[in-house]
Amino acid sequence: MISRDLHELREALGDCHRCPLGDTRTTLVFGVGDSCARVMLVGEAPGRNEDLEGEPFVGAAGRLLDELLSSAGLSRGDIYIANVLKCRPPKNRDPKRDEIECCAPFLREQIRLIDPAVVVTLGNYATRSLLDTKAGITTLHGRPVDIDGRTVLPVFHPAATIYDRTKRDDLFADFAMLGTLLSGGGA
Ligand code: URA
Repeated sequence: MISRDLHELREALGDCHRCPLGDTRTTLVFGVGDSCARVMLVGEAPGRNEDLEGEPFVGAAGRLLDELLSSAGLSRGDIYIANVLKCRPPKNRDPKRDEIECCAPFLREQIRLIDPAVVVTLGNYATRSLLDTKAGITTLHGRPVDIDGRTVLPVFHPAATIYDRTKRDDLFADFAMLGTLLSGGGA
């Protein structure tokens, strides 16, 4: 699938029912932010608040994300955020393989159109989708990988660190690495 811009891509998604999540979601969460961003963040799937509001990371994990961005010298206006899945899985269950496969061409096309220098993958699902690996985020986080002319930086999912201090410290260290990449250390 090739679109001219994000608007055309959103039109192509339409009132998507390519997988059963189309029947249970409230709002399709396409993605938001700067369409020419140097940094793109990819999360897992909309949660309850995102499903209601139509924007990624507006709940508790989103507030932590704002702190992380600010620690790397960034704000939401500087970046683009999307998810592996555009629709909320019921009760926030894990994404299924066929759902990921249905949504993947749209995420790929978002990345192609935005053309970021760095893609930060938040958690296992985003990391595995983009790096085509079975390795887990505990092994991969904080290690930038160059792929197709851009840098992919896997980090823990913010929601996974809310009650885990050690992971939270690792997550801030990984965003410090993002700041370094952006200030000339590689991206
Ligand atoms: N978690 C995600 O992975 N994405 C969101 O948009 C919200 C929470």
